[in-house]
Amino acid sequence: MTNMIPPKKICCIGAGYVGGPTMAMIAAKCPDIRVDVVDLNEERIAAWNSDELPVYEPGLYDVVKEARGRNLFFSTDTEAAIVDADIIFVSVGTPTKTYGRGAGRAADLCYIEGAARMIAKVAKGPKIIVEKSTIPVRTAEAMRTILTANSSEGQFQVLSNPEFLAEGTAVEDLQCPDRILIGGERTPEGDAAVETLVNIYSQWIPRERILTTNLWSSELSKLVANAFLAQRISSINSISALCETTGADVDEVARAIGMDSRIGPKFLKSSVGFGGSCFQKDILNLVYLCEHFGLPQVASYWESVIQMNDWQKERFSGKIVNTLFNTVRNKRIAVWGFAFKKDTNDTRESAAIYVCRDLLLEGANIALYDPRVSQETIIADLKYVGVSQEMIDAQLTICDSCEDAALEAHGVAVLTEWDEFKEADYSRVLDGMHKPAFIFDGRNLLNHDTLRKIGFEVYAIGKG
Ligand code: NAD
Ligand code: UGA
Repeated sequence: MTNMIPPKKICCIGAGYVGGPTMAMIAAKCPDIRVDVVDLNEERIAAWNSDELPVYEPGLYDVVKEARGRNLFFSTDTEAAIVDADIIFVSVGTPTKTYGRGAGRAADLCYIEGAARMIAKVAKGPKIIVEKSTIPVRTAEAMRTILTANSSEGQFQVLSNPEFLAEGTAVEDLQCPDRILIGGERTPEGDAAVETLVNIYSQWIPRERILTTNLWSSELSKLVANAFLAQRISSINSISALCETTGADVDEVARAIGMDSRIGPKFLKSSVGFGGSCFQKDILNLVYLCEHFGLPQVASYWESVIQMNDWQKERFSGKIVNTLFNTVRNKRIAVWGFAFKKDTNDTRESAAIYVCRDLLLEGANIALYDPRVSQETIIADLKYVGVSQEMIDAQLTICDSCEDAALEAHGVAVLTEWDEFKEADYSRVLDGMHKPAFIFDGRNLLNHDTLRKIGFEVYAIGKG
């Protein structure tokens, strides 16, 4: 294994929100290495090869354009890419299991196993396998077992290299990460494999930011990082409810506590609830692991982070119904934003899905606008949480602007913090709405004093 430095070819299985941007950055920074990104999904690969990338991320197109066709290639030919590669990243999805043992909690590792079996089938000679996906601690062991049991010609070193990028800032995060984490087996072969990967990242990241650990610490650190980040949001959201009943202002409280350098200012923005593909799934996975290892107290401690988040979403839709005189039936509610945060087209676990579902079930007519999310995605997401096609046909309208959505509405709910909502023509919005005209700011994005001055009734998260 020690003769693998420097690698000439890298392959990545999975061209999603992580595989695509991560590999594009490696290809851009290491022009001498060929990088093949492969996926089973033909449509996704076609989009990576077009001008309309499947992932919306500021700055991503430029990074892709720099390397695509030079040393970065997107294709569906997984086997060919694996055969040639010195390093194979596995960046497939690890969603929460929806069936069988651990349903609703454990990570579904079927895509990881599928990738491992595919590698074992075609790999010849030494390969470094890199877990890029977020997986339960000790998955590397399972991967190694599958690889060695199914391959006669391959020799494998499995590394853990979790990804910490956040959507919407992926390029910035990849360009200048707080740290790169690489876990490997503590053997001479393992150390050599770790060093090979360190050499790649050190092409653009200072060596002192590249952390190497044992495999299990690396795997577990990823789940723990997400759990800690989500815990901060649930903590401040719990305080938002207390602020509303006491007259305190959650943003002022967050600022006051965040200036304590031991607490720090980040991830203290109170909101309608965190979303995204990972926080909930990774905490559920952590909860499952704790239960599995006989630690029910630890499991329930982390589960409460999810419970608080669910409550925050329900509390927000409940507030809309209560404020609109306890009924929203046949009332038009403008929903501004459907993505789980700004600057992404991703809607996975977005709080907006649940708020819209609750309002539709209460009989409201939803007029929805999001600058990046497609109508197909919105409808699919709502159906997934139990909204019927009849309800969608009768009660949901997708609009071309936030002002259009607000026309004839009784209330506006701001669910994603898109910058353009700050620039809306609020006098026009007010003129077009039923009175009293309510704004429910689920992101504390807008200037509430100004809105009140021009005549809106404003509800904001955590403002007494
Ligand atoms: P994704 O669903 O967008 O992409 C995964 C891709 O893998 C899909 O396109 C799928 O078709 C492909 N795939 C599955 N099995 C395959 C196979 N056998 N061969 C080829 N392709 C295959 O997922 P994502 O958001 O990119 O997340 C991937 C992993 O990274 C997850 O474990 C996630 O937890 C983790 N992660 C995600 C983020 C994020 O911001 N989305 C950040 C850090 C870590
Ligand atoms: C998160 C982590 O930040 C990344 O480090 C990690 O790699 C990634 O999960 C992952 O594993 O998938 P992401 O979900 O893309 O990244 O976005 P975040 O910026 O973390 O936001 C998550 C959710 O929390 C969003 O809905 C956001 O609006 C919400 N949020 C965030 C708040 O409500 N308040 C905050 O202060 C921060």
